[in-house]
Amino acid sequence: MKRILKWALAVVVVLAAAGFVAFLYFTPPLMQLPPEEFIQQAGSAPPPVSGISDPAQQAIAERGRYLVMTSDCGGCHTTQGSQGPDPAYYVAGGMTFVTSTHGTVVSRNLTPDKDTGLGAKSPDDVKRVLRSGVFTDGRGAPPHAMPWPGTSNWSDEDLHAVVTYLRSLKPIHHAIPAPTAGRADAIVPGASEVAYGLDAGKK
Ligand code: HEC
Repeated sequence: MKRILKWALAVVVVLAAAGFVAFLYFTPPLMQLPPEEFIQQAGSAPPPVSGISDPAQQAIAERGRYLVMTSDCGGCHTTQGSQGPDPAYYVAGGMTFVTSTHGTVVSRNLTPDKDTGLGAKSPDDVKRVLRSGVFTDGRGAPPHAMPWPGTSNWSDEDLHAVVTYLRSLKPIHHAIPAPTAGRADAIVPGASEVAYGLDAGKK
C-alpha cells in the first residue's frame, strides 16, 4: 500500500513539473514580441501615416509614429469606450488622473483639432510639455500623470518627429475638461496618483 502511495506521489510530482514546464513553454513571450505586434494586441495601434506627399516629411512622421507607438502614448491618451480604448478616438484624450499634488488632470486631446486638440498650439508649445512638463500658460503637468521626465531627454529630431506625426492625424473634436483642484476623498493613501473613470471628455 505504501509503495502505491509513493508511486502515486511520484506521478503527481512528475505531472506537476511537466505542467509547469509546459506552462512556461506555451506562455507567449509578450515582451519579446516586436513592439508593433505587442501594441496591436493591446488594441491601441496608431493609425498609419497618411496625407503627407513629401517623402522626407513622410519618413519623419513614420519615425514619430514609431516613437508614439513604442512609448504607448495611446495608453493614456486614447479615449476609453465601454469596451476599453476606442480606436476611432486614438489619442483624443479623456483619461482622468487624481493627483495629490496637482489636483485632477485629464489626458489631453493630441489630435490636430483646432478647438479641442493641439491644432491651435505651436510645435514649440507641444515640445515644451514633452521636454519640461510646462504648459504654455506656465502650469506644470504632474510627472506621474503625464510622464514627461521620460521624454525630457529626447533629441530635437525625436520631438520634431512626434509632433509631425501627431499633426498628420485626423482631427477629432473631443473637448477635455480643464484641470481642477484634487478630490481628497479619491486619493488612495500612499499612492501619488490614481487613474479612474472612463472617458472624462465630452464627445
Ligand atoms: C501615464 C499617462 C500618460 C502617458 C503614457 C502619456 N501622457 Fe501625455 N498627458 C497625460 C496627461 C494626464 C496630460 C494632461 C496633464 C495636465 O493637464 O496637467 C497629458 C498631456 C500631454 C500633452 C499636453 C497637451 C496640450 O494640450 O498642451 C502632450 C503634448 C502630451 N501629453 C503628449 C504625450 C506624448 C507624445 C506621449 C507619449 C510619448 C504621452 N503624452 C504619454 C498623460 C499621459
